[in-house]
Amino acid sequence: MRLLIHRNYEKACAWIGDYITKRIRDFNPQKENPFVIGLPTGSSPLGVYRELIKKHKNGEVSFANVISFNMDEYAGLPPDHPQSYARFMKDNFFGSVDIDPKNTHIPNGLAPDLAKECLAYEEAIRAGGGIELFLGGVGSDGHIAFNEPGSSLASRTRIKTLTPETRRDNARFFGGDESKVPATALTVGVGTVMDAREVVIIACGRNKAPALRAAVEGGVSHWCPLSCLQMHPKAIIVCDEDAAGALRASTVKYFKDIERDAI
Ligand code: GLP
Repeated sequence: MRLLIHRNYEKACAWIGDYITKRIRDFNPQKENPFVIGLPTGSSPLGVYRELIKKHKNGEVSFANVISFNMDEYAGLPPDHPQSYARFMKDNFFGSVDIDPKNTHIPNGLAPDLAKECLAYEEAIRAGGGIELFLGGVGSDGHIAFNEPGSSLASRTRIKTLTPETRRDNARFFGGDESKVPATALTVGVGTVMDAREVVIIACGRNKAPALRAAVEGGVSHWCPLSCLQMHPKAIIVCDEDAAGALRASTVKYFKDIERDAI
């Protein structure tokens, strides 16, 4: 697992924007051989989406032959609800690039049979050839997508109950009212993320520091789902100095030394 420690959030987002652009360009996606990307929501990826939109507008990258699968969606919110992840993606990314809406996938939180919807989502990823690169964020409790602490590290797309901590964290998007945050969500599993050929996680800000310490310096544990990346053959965590704030000085020095040329 690589750890890239950037000076601040903007630098972290710029690096990821460059990286994803390069990965898509090198892949040279075609209609019959599209680039399949996994995408997150939350405040952390916003800067990455801004970078990608800028690069798209400059003609540096096209999403015409990109297929996307989002990580998760709240159960019970219609796609046009201002806080649904479907709406988030449209407003913050899909609406500003040349991706074909038919090629974008987000679990349907209003499906009549949610368990069936989750199975179909896994099947769609498989049918699409699997995910080439999964971009993700991390919750302050170490969750990835909505895989809360204690989630099976082999889990697949399913319905999850959100923890009070996650509902508290996300209340800021619901006018600060925790009771408005849906109690359950549809989420890809840890196993679904692990199946991606590459995983890139953005972790910025002081509130991510305990999760980052557990994932980097602790052992692999369902108590910190992000730590599963230790078992992934190609994983990068891109963080800022604040998120690296709880790591040992020797850990920070180690990663800064070996990643000197990457940053
Ligand atoms: C939500 C999302 C996660 C995201 C996390 C962190 O819980 N389901 O995918 O990583 O929030 O969000 P933020 O980036 O806003 O801190």
